[in-house]
Amino acid sequence: MSEPTVELFDVYEEDRKTRRQAKAVRRKQHKIHKQRVRASRRTEIEPMPSPTWGSGGQNRPQSLRGAVRLKVRGIPTTTHTAATAYPYVAGPSLGPGGIYLGYDLNGGGAFCFDPWDLYKRGIISGMAMLLFGQVGTGKSSLAKSFACRQVKAGRKLSVASDKKGEWTPVVHALGGEVIQVGPGLSTRLNPLDPGTRPSVNPRGEPMREDEWEMIVRTRRMATLETLVKILINRDLSPAEHSVVAKGLHDGVRARAQYEQAVVIPDVINQLWDQKHKAQDQLIIDAAMEMAMTLQRVTSGDLAGMFDGETSVNFDADAPAVSVDTSALRGASPDAIRVVNACAGAWTEAMVTTSDGGQRVVVYEEGWDNISSEADLQRMMESWKMARAYGIFNILVLHKIADLDMAGDKGSRMTAMAKSLSADADVKVIYRQDQSALKITLEELDLSSLERSILKSLDDGVGLWRLGQSSFQIKNELTNAEKPLFDTDERMGIKSGEEGA
Ligand SMILES: Nc1ncnc2c1ncn2[C@@H]1O[C@H](COP(=O)(O)OP(=O)(O)OP(=O)(O)O)[C@@H](O)[C@H]1O
Ligand SMILES: [Mg+2]
Repeated sequence: MSEPTVELFDVYEEDRKTRRQAKAVRRKQHKIHKQRVRASRRTEIEPMPSPTWGSGGQNRPQSLRGAVRLKVRGIPTTTHTAATAYPYVAGPSLGPGGIYLGYDLNGGGAFCFDPWDLYKRGIISGMAMLLFGQVGTGKSSLAKSFACRQVKAGRKLSVASDKKGEWTPVVHALGGEVIQVGPGLSTRLNPLDPGTRPSVNPRGEPMREDEWEMIVRTRRMATLETLVKILINRDLSPAEHSVVAKGLHDGVRARAQYEQAVVIPDVINQLWDQKHKAQDQLIIDAAMEMAMTLQRVTSGDLAGMFDGETSVNFDADAPAVSVDTSALRGASPDAIRVVNACAGAWTEAMVTTSDGGQRVVVYEEGWDNISSEADLQRMMESWKMARAYGIFNILVLHKIADLDMAGDKGSRMTAMAKSLSADADVKVIYRQDQSALKITLEELDLSSLERSILKSLDDGVGLWRLGQSSFQIKNELTNAEKPLFDTDERMGIKSGEEGA
């Protein structure tokens, strides 16, 4: 015989009807118990002991005896207040928009990141990321996983100057193009190339011919100034500025008849020409000094790299392109700076167009890029332009103090480096050593919680600062990505090949 069952609870009702029903239930239960006792006497089985308390437990308020006494009322409140009341339960979230990068160690949820979407939503206003961290903590892996996944989603990637050549297998795997520049290599880039002409200007209006000419002139002049400043390690005097501008103008005119882009040797020739023709000693001296300075770019260990027409075809539609400068390892610091400036200027000229869609531009091992004022200035200006053209820049550094390396405390260069940092609304900080940590804490104005997190971050885990919000994110690599990003293994393979 199946036993009768009863429904017991209705926690939200407290009216008399509910109480009557509960009483009836108790009566029924009592009856069932008596029937059981009688049945057990008939079969001489030891009866079950009587319950000490009635149904619902001891009859006292603390036991919430009788479900009908339990009142559950919601408290209307805002999510802001609720977050304050429970501050340690979970961190904020960016929402599901964007591409998966890993998981949030505070909230446990997936961390998706799409700078273009965040810009549209007003969460960030500067389209750049600064990525700091000790050696081997996973900075490059984060930049690579972000870039690869963006390319898979239809965006493009440019690596301005890949000093270790570690992006080469990544760019190949994405079906992109690698341009290798270095002493003895056949590839030549012309840093004075006009670049890709966008169909619209930064205001979204059709680009006029005179506007485009102005942009190209400004860009070429900035590149020449950068090179000269790197080589003479000071600002140009007004006379020097004037002779370089005239040299560029005359060089462009001389090349125009062949419908070719001006190259650095053209500017040098025009500078010698000025030196011979000028009457004023100031101009003669300035022209001579500038010509001799620029000759450095076309001679010695730099010869053949930036002194002629570009020998590769830049495919603006390629999903990824990188300038691999790893062959330059061991070159003089000046040569490395010149290469960075030229490769950076060339890449920026090629990618600064809204027609090519959205693009990620990576400056790997970026401390070289910011150690010269001219390069820094060029980068700052290009970053400002990039925003209008849908570009997201990533600058990878070891520590925030690398920005201070730009110049003396309080100098113009340090101020520019700080402005670069201020422009980057996304800052990702990987584990820092003790000395770097102190400066990081001072510069970035981190909260005490963030400070304590920073000291003990595991490899592959970064503290992300997006505007005023911060997240602790473990970057997850897929099985396909791991061997591709494994820098140690790759270096082993490469050295094996070199030795062969
Ligand atoms: N999130 C991760 N999951 C698994 N392995 C990782 C992760 N991040 C990095 N690694 C591994 O750690 C090693 C070092 O990573 P990576 O080259 O990205 O470090 P880095 O900070 O860029 O170093 P460096 O300062 O020398 O450039 C690589 O072999 C990489 O595969
Ligand atoms: Mg790296």
